[in-house]
Amino acid sequence: MKAIAVRPGQPNSVHLAEVPTPSMASIPDGRGVRVRMLRVGIDGTDKEINEGLYGAPPPGEEILVIGHEGFGRVEEVGSEVSDLSPDDYVVPMVRRPGGSLYDRIGFPDLSTDETYYERGINFLHGYLAEEVVDDASYLVKVPPSLKEVGVLVEPTTVAEKGWRQAVEIQRRLRLWRPQRTAVLGAGTIGLLATLIFRLRGFDVTTFARTKKPYLNTDLAEAVGARYYSTQEISLLEAANREGPFDMILEATGYSPLAFEAMEAVGKNGIIILSSVTGGDRKVEVPADRINLEFVLGNKVAVGIVSAGRDDFEAAVRDLAHAEAAYPGWLKRLLTHAVQGLENYPLLFNDLTEEKEAIKVYCDIAEF
Ligand code: BGC
Ligand code: ZN
Repeated sequence: MKAIAVRPGQPNSVHLAEVPTPSMASIPDGRGVRVRMLRVGIDGTDKEINEGLYGAPPPGEEILVIGHEGFGRVEEVGSEVSDLSPDDYVVPMVRRPGGSLYDRIGFPDLSTDETYYERGINFLHGYLAEEVVDDASYLVKVPPSLKEVGVLVEPTTVAEKGWRQAVEIQRRLRLWRPQRTAVLGAGTIGLLATLIFRLRGFDVTTFARTKKPYLNTDLAEAVGARYYSTQEISLLEAANREGPFDMILEATGYSPLAFEAMEAVGKNGIIILSSVTGGDRKVEVPADRINLEFVLGNKVAVGIVSAGRDDFEAAVRDLAHAEAAYPGWLKRLLTHAVQGLENYPLLFNDLTEEKEAIKVYCDIAEF
């Protein structure tokens, strides 16, 4: 079958590959499910993998099939699968268990292993392929009403995991009612985080560099968020002027903002860090003041990587809620479509900044 693959470590190695069709026998205990991939999104992680900065092939292989934002339709189920049937739409999860305690109790996204397994990223083939076979436990059902936007489920899980972790952590306060929240970044993740915070009724300020007017700012405002360009007002200036934030989700990829957030978060507040920043940037920070205010204000910062099954299920529910609350909004995020795996060069072309893409994706087969 056809697939889009890279040679990890080798810059610009993305190519159309002919790879073996996955076999149902590769999944034990009759739990296998064959999925025809319909639509797969790409993001900054795929770009970094193609730049040779990130990613690893399966042991003993030279290429890695990329793509971790999958959406497909079930073709065939194993004898022991009762929760899925042919024609169901599904999104496959990204992480697979390694060996740590957390992996073994079903939370691979909380793995403490140095080596982690992520489909399309690390040691496991991804979804930019005609077909995928997986264990039913890692496939999350999507209602047909969401099929056009099913490709947004995986990116939404970032915000869902952030929110779920924040709720767990903030139980320490007995009663936590975030009111003022900030989302840093107005790319796919920033906009989806803006959405899910608005669906929960919070006051949201979304910060990004670009000045209005701009599609991303329209989208933030369309769900009732306030949009600030950091070229006009910084996060810290906004906090000083309008009050500190109860919760801040960082999704820009610009690590210095994590430290600015530490000064902009209020007492008992929480910062959720979600950007994978592979660089080596250094900044000077007011260390004494940040530390003191963290102590005196009982503040928390938490990092989140990948997502668990609960987050995928929550993402599906929230996307359905979004379609009802803001009809047509999700579709506006799907800015750049590429038709067919063979047109893969366009995928990476669309991801470049000049294109101002929100979600770039490949349509692999008819819905
Ligand atoms: C993916 C996550 C993954 C992370 C780190 C992100 O782009 O969406 O699932 O855990 O990269 O590899
Ligand atoms: Zn991603």
